[in-house]
Amino acid sequence: MKIKPCKNNIGAEIDINLISMSQKEIDEIKKVLNNYGVIFFRDQNLTPKSYINFAENFGELAEYPMLKGLSKEFSKITVIERKASDKGPSFGEQFHTDSSYTKKPPRYTMLLGKLVPPRGQGNTEFASQYLAYEKLPEEIKAKLENLEAVFSSSGPISVTRLEREKEKGTGKSKDFKSSHRIIKRVNNKKTIYFSPGHVTEFKGISDEEGKNLKKFLINHQTKPEFVHSFEWEKNSIAMWDNRAVLHQATPFSGNRIMHRITIQ
Ligand SMILES: [Fe+2]
Repeated sequence: MKIKPCKNNIGAEIDINLISMSQKEIDEIKKVLNNYGVIFFRDQNLTPKSYINFAENFGELAEYPMLKGLSKEFSKITVIERKASDKGPSFGEQFHTDSSYTKKPPRYTMLLGKLVPPRGQGNTEFASQYLAYEKLPEEIKAKLENLEAVFSSSGPISVTRLEREKEKGTGKSKDFKSSHRIIKRVNNKKTIYFSPGHVTEFKGISDEEGKNLKKFLINHQTKPEFVHSFEWEKNSIAMWDNRAVLHQATPFSGNRIMHRITIQ
């Protein structure tokens, strides 16, 4: 198993065949994921069944409340499709953490590229919140330490979901809201858990102060030196810890199909 760290150690590419792995290799993959926050695999021609099998190594699979699954049998696989004819932004086109408006947001997300535009188009960007936390000014660290924010499913990113909900919506996507602590500890490292696409307000500070803090945070969390831009190929997989990185889709034209699994 070869491990190749990406720019500034924001993620690592792992060279292995996911169908024939030993328990030792699975444990090693978990370690790399915890260390880097996001990992990538290439050329994994997985069936829905083998994709689910791989995902189950990391925990209980989550249900996505907003969109229907691939099929009855594979309801835990969400199809994220972009059509050339779609107007408006792609699904997830703003930095966010997945389903952070739920009470117990999924810990991991996995995407498998089934149909992708030419390499270098429609990248997914990952912003390391390990690095972002480390580089926060000390007084902001102290301010955030015990602060909670309100995460809402109708936050600014919700517009990118509308097109998909029209076709595949579960009808249960009304309004989810949840509060979470902003500073999390993941494997003895602290991270910023603040989803620019979902946070609507802070708890216990004035609107004015909250507005300024939000602006500062979003700008800080997504600085170019914390961001790695992943180039998709068919059968690539990206898997990340939602507490350790933010992610966003980037604009492109054309068709794309991704299979997504989230893990509790
Ligand atoms: Fe997402």
